[in-house]
Amino acid sequence: MSHNLLKGKKGIIFGALDSNSIAWKTAERVHEEGGQFVLTNAPVAMRMGQINELAEKTGSQIIPADATSIEDLQNLVEKSMEILGGKIDFVLHSIGMSINVRKGKHYTDQNYDWTQKGTDVSAMSFHKVMQTLYKADAMNEWGSIVALTYMAAQRVFPDYNDMADNKAYLESIARSFGYFFGRDKKVRVNTISQSPTPTTAGSGVKGFDGFISYAEKMSPLGNATALDCANYTVTLFSDLTKRVTLQNLYNDGGFSNMGVSDAVMSTFMNEE
Ligand code: NAI
Repeated sequence: MSHNLLKGKKGIIFGALDSNSIAWKTAERVHEEGGQFVLTNAPVAMRMGQINELAEKTGSQIIPADATSIEDLQNLVEKSMEILGGKIDFVLHSIGMSINVRKGKHYTDQNYDWTQKGTDVSAMSFHKVMQTLYKADAMNEWGSIVALTYMAAQRVFPDYNDMADNKAYLESIARSFGYFFGRDKKVRVNTISQSPTPTTAGSGVKGFDGFISYAEKMSPLGNATALDCANYTVTLFSDLTKRVTLQNLYNDGGFSNMGVSDAVMSTFMNEE
């Protein structure tokens, strides 16, 4: 259902790999709400992904960019402003990758070259995206920048591995850069801390099935889906949230404030 919340707004959406991606659902919802955008992803992901289908469906153009490359990001920002015919109102950073996770390397036995690569892709890329936008003065006043994160930044989830540290770094960048973006350009910066969601990145985490079922049982409203996340992001891109900034916002069905639920307790009770 559309409310035209993003009519006339222009943006860049990173990270739509396939129809399960949170960025894919977000692109669909932003389009429904009247927003226009450029889609981008790493060149290698595009060869595997189905991004052309999404571009066609949403009337968008695609500009490949490795989010760790300043050169690629400068080109992306410049071309996006040309295509969209002006400055940018919203940006979604929906990027995450850990080689240690992918290759099953334990947290206590990291390959630091992989750790560094993962940090660059998953966290420092957010700084690089914002610095590129900031230096190019590419954002309109009252624009909105959102990145996606997970609660392993605050609490221990052993199998989330080095991604937990990457997410803590990502959330800190949102606050630190958000200050300067707010003060100098009236742009807000937030992270959404999303429930476990069955996507390519999500399912790569060891024990993901257990993880997602546990969160579902713990959360009074159940896990937030990719579509729920897309809807929340639409509100953050809209003018209804103009002074929400520097926040880490939980979209998790209540999970983050739970101690234990009846559903989880019942699996530990020895009923007489
Ligand atoms: P996904 O696998 O569909 O998306 C991850 C995206 O990152 C892919 O499109 C991939 O091509 C892109 N990417 C990787 N390296 C890149 C690079 N160098 N340059 C540009 N793009 C690159 O998975 P999902 O779940 O939609 O992930 C989106 C975001 O949501 C990530 O930040 C993830 O950590 C976060 N998140 C996911 C949760 C889950 O359970 N799926 C839970 C909480 C947060």
